[in-house]
Amino acid sequence: MGLDAQQRDVVSAVAAPKTDFEAELGCFVKRVFDNLSGFVVSGMIALGHELGLYRALDGAGPLPSEAVAARTGLHERWVREWLRGQAAAGLLDYDGAGGFSLSPVGALVLANQQSPAFSAGGFVGLPAQLAVLDLLRESFRTGIGLPYDALGCDGARGVDGGFAPWFRTMLVPIALPQLDGVVAKLEAGGQGADIGCGAGTALLEMAKAFPRSVFHGYDISQHALTLARDAQRAAGVTNAHFHDARQEPLPEDGRFDFVTAFDCLHDMTQPQAMMASVRRALRADGTWLIGDVNAKPTFEENLAQNPMAALMYGYSVLSCLSSSLSEPGGAGLGTLGLPEPLAREMTARAGFTRFTRHDFGNPVNAYYEVRP
Ligand SMILES: C[S@@+](CC[C@H](N)C(=O)[O-])C[C@H]1O[C@@H](n2cnc3c(N)ncnc32)[C@H](O)[C@@H]1O
Repeated sequence: MGLDAQQRDVVSAVAAPKTDFEAELGCFVKRVFDNLSGFVVSGMIALGHELGLYRALDGAGPLPSEAVAARTGLHERWVREWLRGQAAAGLLDYDGAGGFSLSPVGALVLANQQSPAFSAGGFVGLPAQLAVLDLLRESFRTGIGLPYDALGCDGARGVDGGFAPWFRTMLVPIALPQLDGVVAKLEAGGQGADIGCGAGTALLEMAKAFPRSVFHGYDISQHALTLARDAQRAAGVTNAHFHDARQEPLPEDGRFDFVTAFDCLHDMTQPQAMMASVRRALRADGTWLIGDVNAKPTFEENLAQNPMAALMYGYSVLSCLSSSLSEPGGAGLGTLGLPEPLAREMTARAGFTRFTRHDFGNPVNAYYEVRP
């Protein structure tokens, strides 16, 4: 089938940009395809993490594809294609003679799971997140979104993979000591709770660090709770308990010394009610630590100042906004929906009187120490 005149103009503009319009068109097409490239490379990052390819390259110097295949027990031809793609994406270095290497900085982000900068684990949830696009088409029509369990077990693994490095390396040694009196109470033996606990990594880190205290995790995702209980068994932790918040909600009897909520309030259908519930669950001298996305107060500010805004609005449609609208009457905050001024206003409305902002070295989140 032949091209019409307008189609021919577009084709020639893409092929050989000359005028301002043609250059602008070429730039726009490139921007669109950069997104497609990011999407496909993200899938390759998930594969590289799960197949142990980054770990095989870590500290090994330039390796040919045969050596990487031998180290991982994988087929050389497939490994070669993956290595070439990673070099083209700028994630691996190529020595020009068949050798591929992962830089020390690259290893901190893609290979070393004990590094606070480790990020590859967050990519494993992408296929599950994109698998719900069909269902989300319906959500755009009905207004009703999907709870986290719609993303399956891999979705819960991906969420945990994204947040766990910070919990493992920063929560106990860096963040908790900066909160007024919390470490002393937990060392002496207190009661802690984590709402929206997901796969339980934060709760288990605290339970391991403070064996005299007892910790309770609450979530409504069965996949996340299963992962949490599996991780608890594997770690042999006995002072932690995980609860399905629909069956066993947070007890509102002022028993807790310390409550945490990491990246979950903006996902909840009723965040204001949850804040009031936390207030009732806390002792009068208790502390609530909220971690939430460091959003700007307005869309205009996010657009101009937040380099991750496109990613965040995308995540919002795929999971956060979707979860927060998963029941009729949901608040619909979404990923960038709980900036500091709103967090201050909502916690005050729930009966809290003190609010201190902290930055604990997390490039994505802000932290709020909130007290009655
Ligand atoms: C983005 S995940 C964060 C999980 C965990 N805090 C972390 O940082 O890895 C949000 C979690 O909030 C949970 N959630 C949503 N609504 C909830 C509710 N009403 N009560 C308890 N958990 C809820 C979801 O099931 C999901 O596991």
